[in-house]
Amino acid sequence: MKAVTWQGRRDVRVETVPDPVIQEPTDAVIRITSTGLCGSDLHLYEVLTPFMTPGDILGHEPMGIVEEVGAGVPDLAAGDRVVVPFQIACGTCWMCLTGLPTQCETTQCTGEGMGAALFGYTRLYGAVPGAQAEYLRVPQAQFGPIKVPEGPPDDRFVYLSDVLPTAWQAVEYAHVPPGGSVAVLGLGPIGDMACRVAQVRGAERVFGVDLVPERLRRARERGVETFDLRDFDSQKELVTALQDRTAGRGPDAVIDAVGTEAHGSAAARLAQTATGLLPRAIGARFAEHLSVDRLAALHTAIDLVRRGGTISISGMYGGTADPLPLLTMFDKQVCLRMGQANVRTWSDDIRPLLTDEDPLGVDSFATHRLPLAEAAHAYEMFQRKQDGAVKVLMEP
Ligand SMILES: NC(=O)c1ccc[n+]([C@@H]2O[C@H](COP(=O)([O-])OP(=O)(O)OC[C@H]3O[C@@H](n4cnc5c(N)ncnc54)[C@H](O)[C@@H]3O)[C@@H](O)[C@H]2O)c1
Ligand SMILES: [Zn+2]
Ligand SMILES: [Zn+2]
Repeated sequence: MKAVTWQGRRDVRVETVPDPVIQEPTDAVIRITSTGLCGSDLHLYEVLTPFMTPGDILGHEPMGIVEEVGAGVPDLAAGDRVVVPFQIACGTCWMCLTGLPTQCETTQCTGEGMGAALFGYTRLYGAVPGAQAEYLRVPQAQFGPIKVPEGPPDDRFVYLSDVLPTAWQAVEYAHVPPGGSVAVLGLGPIGDMACRVAQVRGAERVFGVDLVPERLRRARERGVETFDLRDFDSQKELVTALQDRTAGRGPDAVIDAVGTEAHGSAAARLAQTATGLLPRAIGARFAEHLSVDRLAALHTAIDLVRRGGTISISGMYGGTADPLPLLTMFDKQVCLRMGQANVRTWSDDIRPLLTDEDPLGVDSFATHRLPLAEAAHAYEMFQRKQDGAVKVLMEP
């Protein structure tokens, strides 16, 4: 089959690799019909390269048609239309039963000290072959795949794999009080969708911050009060402008939908780039023991949120030695929640919103649909934010 493989920093290629097969009774194999490109893939493209192995198959946002199931997957059959969550979880361990499939004790990558295995996400997360491919082996298929009806286009459902539950969890963890306000930093697919979810779930005011004009426009057109980072000379200015809209206090909650590759900090950028350029073995050791994130967005969140408010981090961070202003965080009495999205915990709450009325605008969410063969172009375009690319779906 054809699959998108990682070959090196900013180097992905579509190659022919062996077709996946059922290996365990709890496996399924699906034929992929749509597969998303995520901001998380961009970290692998550039910053997390020390944890990658050339040939790794990328991708974790698939949907498609079940081809084959193992004997231990009673509820799926060949021909079913399914969306596959980005994390692999058993559904029956203590963590899964607690609603934390991201911490599944059956698939935890204990050797690396990490949580549940993820599709296409480095050796830290199990080095599981990813979903930007013609076919995908789905482990723990007795729990993960979400069956969806025939009829509507893939766009209606594909975001259940990642974007929707991530945005949903971001809002859930933000604890916006009734009639309250939330600021979303970053208006990529996750931040954009988090704004939409916050609106649907009753936030009175939703603010959005980014520096890419069409991303700001998309949010503004749906009623988000937007702020263009480029209009401010300093973080302080931005924070003041936003606080002015909330009686000087700051929003009740701030969602960080940016993560480790934030614009705004030259020193950390240098450290990250250097890690990516070191020989791989040394780079990995450096990254594991000493890595620092670009913390611009998180620092903004800490300054911006009102006293006693909540910061919800869905942007990915991977640093091990990040300096944080704990004096401010403690004094402001900030509540902090974060983590990968627990997909199956939220998917049943989201499903009723995926209707013809389309309150979240999923049907028109993708800006680009490309053949899988054009993956190299898709990655470059998405990373550089060219051609208005916000959400890219690929079709094998
Ligand atoms: N928690 C999860 O389960 C989960 C799932 C998916 C994605 N993610 C993470 O969420 C983040 C966003 O993903 P995405 O797909 O939307 O990616 P993206 O890269 O398209 O979006 C990031 C956005 O942040 C903007 N930005 C950069 N610096 C900023 C700053 N200082 N202030 C405000 N905006 C800034 C960028 O212009 C961009 O539009 C990534 O870190 C990704 O890894 C987490
Ligand atoms: Zn993703
Ligand atoms: Zn589990």
